Amino acid sequence: MGGLGEFYCMELSEFAHRILFSCDVNEKLAAAVEFTDVQPFHPASLPTEPGRPTSLALGRWKSSKRVSFPTRAELLDPVKVGVLLHFFANHELLALELMALTLLKFPSAPAAFRMGVAKTMLDEQRHLASYLAQMKSVGVELGDIPVNDFFWTQCSAMKSPLDYVARMSLTFEQANLDFASYFRDVLVELGDVSTAALLQTVLDDEIGHVKHGLVWFRRWKPESKSDWQAFCEALGGEINPARAKGSVFDSESRLRVGFDQDFIDSLKIFSQSKGGLPKLSFYNPEAEEELRLVAARPQLSSALGLARDDLAAVMIFVLNQDDILAVPRRLPRDFLVKIRDCGFDIPELLLSEIDEKSLKQGLGQRKILGFNPWAVTPWTLALEKTFDASSLMFSANPGELRPLYSKVTALDVLKEFLAANKPDDCLVDSELVGSVVACTEEFESLMQTFCSKGLRGKFIAKRPWSAAGRHRIIESISDLPWAEQPKILRQWFENSWRIGELPIVQPLFKRRIDVSVQARIAVKPESLQVHILGFTRVLNLPNGQYAGTCVGRILGGQDNELLRFWHKGSNGHSGSVEEILESVVRFAGESLAKRGYTGSFGIDAFVFERENGTLGLFPMIEINPRHTMGRVALSIGKRMAPGRVGLWLHIPAGWLRRLCASSFAELRDRWTSLLPLRTQTKSGGTVVVSGVLETSPAEQCQQVWTCFAVGTDLKEIGEVLSISQLLSVSEESKTNDMPAMRL
Ligand SMILES: [Fe+2]
Ligand SMILES: [Fe+2]
Repeated sequence: MGGLGEFYCMELSEFAHRILFSCDVNEKLAAAVEFTDVQPFHPASLPTEPGRPTSLALGRWKSSKRVSFPTRAELLDPVKVGVLLHFFANHELLALELMALTLLKFPSAPAAFRMGVAKTMLDEQRHLASYLAQMKSVGVELGDIPVNDFFWTQCSAMKSPLDYVARMSLTFEQANLDFASYFRDVLVELGDVSTAALLQTVLDDEIGHVKHGLVWFRRWKPESKSDWQAFCEALGGEINPARAKGSVFDSESRLRVGFDQDFIDSLKIFSQSKGGLPKLSFYNPEAEEELRLVAARPQLSSALGLARDDLAAVMIFVLNQDDILAVPRRLPRDFLVKIRDCGFDIPELLLSEIDEKSLKQGLGQRKILGFNPWAVTPWTLALEKTFDASSLMFSANPGELRPLYSKVTALDVLKEFLAANKPDDCLVDSELVGSVVACTEEFESLMQTFCSKGLRGKFIAKRPWSAAGRHRIIESISDLPWAEQPKILRQWFENSWRIGELPIVQPLFKRRIDVSVQARIAVKPESLQVHILGFTRVLNLPNGQYAGTCVGRILGGQDNELLRFWHKGSNGHSGSVEEILESVVRFAGESLAKRGYTGSFGIDAFVFERENGTLGLFPMIEINPRHTMGRVALSIGKRMAPGRVGLWLHIPAGWLRRLCASSFAELRDRWTSLLPLRTQTKSGGTVVVSGVLETSPAEQCQQVWTCFAVGTDLKEIGEVLSISQLLSVSEESKTNDMPAMRL
């Protein structure tokens, strides 16, 4: 014990009294070889704060500049390791003092429990002394930085020994298992084996401390309740159960403690904001339809309604554990555990329909910061107001959202971009990007322009709020005069004009690859930033239906011509395709921000083949001022090992028969056995190395099921899962945009 005092035999209450009241750390470190507990006493009064020297006073934390927890990179510096240990040392000291408080507060607690606490205290003394010695070796002294009083404020009000074990052993000491194992791994990776070994010793002891707490907790909790239920109830809303874990989750140490699987899984997937007010999220893909019809919550067909519920869970991947996600179906625990095991955060899940009454009922008295829905719409803004929250995503008049989502706006922004930049061989000719057509004369004049540019053949028309392949017509438009166009087509145009949804007419390009770029607008008080989150490749079925997104090495399997074009552009280029797309995204983001929008957005673009065989870039066919499937795919892809390719698939129910599966669950079981999930865990977290992870629960899905397949080669994934026939994932896709005619 390095010269610290040691008593041979001591009364427990006296030992506790000395530790709690003394202002000298050395006195607090004085241990005893044996304890007696014949005269337990409850002092006349207990202090509101433990005795401390001035440098370690708990109040110092509030009045001085706080030192933050060192980051992983900073731990290469031994002094920062000393700072880390200073935090740990303070935790040991606080634990020691709270245990002393427990012995003094509850003199009539069972003798074996009291003796167990005393034994734990001897460990804490040893931990503290070891940390102090290690700190000293790098020149850090206890008291060099202000210490916090968090454990004390959370635990000192305990009213019973049960309270003590729930708060101290099962919450803070349990979380310490995660911190100790995480920093042990970090330090091993950074080569600091001696500190790592110290953390391993502490971890081994702490497992014993949590076990002591668990044994007594089980004796004292109501028999009818599971450990998890009783634990949550014992914390009683005063302490968030999420405090019982760190950012990595050490299941193995918890198994060594003796927790049951139910407790481990429940805690693993439990989320509730530890800090500020949470944001409320939900999936509302009917946004475009709401804006088109200017009607709150438009009625969806039953198939689309089911598809919406099938996909509600995918929002999990764009949220963090401080958010709340409202979902219409209870998500199976196995599903959530698997996602958590792959390193994803899980938000707090609220089982609720997405309407004012249900959400308010579900939230009870809880306040929220605001909404973070899939898509902000006039309806979500109005609903948000009833929660006394102001929008985090849209600052203009709600009426301005309709034009924001319009394809006409995206076309205008594209034209502005093309006008503001010098002509580039690589880019689509600005006269070929299409126009709004408001009458037959405009139709004919546009066709003339296209013809004069040598463009003959097929065109596409879409209404401003067309989404999911609806409200558009494809292929059946040719360059014939208006009067010679098919009647059904003329009627479609006339209807569009009558309802005020003026269509855009564009050439039907021979597409080679569809991509999307995802970004986020962050508006700070005096600046605007458009953060580019990444590129994805969009996979559409030959009929234009969205089938998934490819992330990671998105150009795998493309031919050399496309690769050359992608990396260099063509003659007279101003940069690579990625550079051009980045500047388009910034331009679009600034335009959205000017219109009052902040938050996530994505743009869609494609590379096409010209009549003369050269390649061109259509840099923005759509702006989606909302979350997008590409954004979700990118977030999922973040948990993929480097150098891999990931395929986020949306499997429609119609594929089941062609894949010879009777249900999504059967397909999931088959695919996960063909491509079993392999993960890798390091201090940086867990990543998927290969395999199939389901990203919506197959048992519940009726219209569409999603999963994420990871591997080194797209073609191989396609072959193993037998989807190459259904979806061309590896070769260049020369299929044209949506041959089906949908009116
Ligand atoms: Fe400890
Ligand atoms: Fe402990």
